[in-house]
Amino acid sequence: MKTLKERFKQQFLIGAAVNGNIMKENQDLLKMHYNSITAENEMKFEEICPEPGLYNFELPDQFLAFAEEHGIGMRGHTLVWHNQTPAWFFMDDEGNDVSREELLKRLHSHINTVVKRYRGRVYAWDVVNEAVSDHGEEVYRPSKWTEIIGEDFLDYAFQYAHEADPNALLFYNDYNETNPVKREKIYRLVKGMLARNVPIHGIGLQAHWSLYHPAYEEIEEALKRYSELGLTLHITEMDVSVYAFDDKRTDLVKPTEEMLHLQAERYEHFFKLFEAYAENISAVTFWGVTDNYTWLNNFPVKGRKNWPFLFDANAVPKPAFYRVIK
Ligand code: GLA
Repeated sequence: MKTLKERFKQQFLIGAAVNGNIMKENQDLLKMHYNSITAENEMKFEEICPEPGLYNFELPDQFLAFAEEHGIGMRGHTLVWHNQTPAWFFMDDEGNDVSREELLKRLHSHINTVVKRYRGRVYAWDVVNEAVSDHGEEVYRPSKWTEIIGEDFLDYAFQYAHEADPNALLFYNDYNETNPVKREKIYRLVKGMLARNVPIHGIGLQAHWSLYHPAYEEIEEALKRYSELGLTLHITEMDVSVYAFDDKRTDLVKPTEEMLHLQAERYEHFFKLFEAYAENISAVTFWGVTDNYTWLNNFPVKGRKNWPFLFDANAVPKPAFYRVIK
């Protein structure tokens, strides 16, 4: 059987998000099909630093050891985010917001600790995740970062990361990345950073897509537009939900034949687009490995199972796999 990483070796890396369980259950698939991994949650702030000054790198260290043993690269995810960052990080002993200077100092120390630890070993970092607003004209998502530091928190984060590992590729990563309005905000944000000589090397397109959304034209427009910036693009968190946005059904215990068929068609088309932009795309990462586990189980609809990947819950290739690998 052809493998994913073989099939695309001239074009881009093929990645998977992993966690402790996936590392146990899907070692063989990981070794066979993927040449990149990302920790699903285990490098996020609240996971590696749950309490002030208390860093725990056990899981990411294990993931990286596995990756290095098998010639697999590792992306780092993620240094700065409005989510999964503990509240104490932004507060002083009295529970008030720290000053801009203090938060920059803490940010520097965090990035320095994490990025230096994996210097030369983690090949790319999602430095800032999801800083752009989904709403209308608003460019920056309001957060503790914008509130305390201001809009230039991104510039600092990238500078600190670059200083800690000058060879790591540094990414801005976001979702709804093909939406034309948000796309232009991301484009302008990154263009501005480049104009200010901020060390940013890539845009991460999360690609949490579905059978019905986004339209191929919208994806192509986004790939084209982002490519104009002359940076590399990573597809960072790809999954293809079998449900339409407003479909709230919870009764399915397996995907319907129609879902599997449509999903195969979608995946084939997505990868055709990726191949058309292969000069600009250097990695395509799925946000999981098999349908046994996905963050989309129970989200956004409680009690609902989803089947977004190329391998079914028993790690058997689905119709989508064969269409992608063709
Ligand atoms: C965002 C984050 C990921 C992950 C997903 C949901 O896309 O970037 O780290 O939390 O949400 O799993």
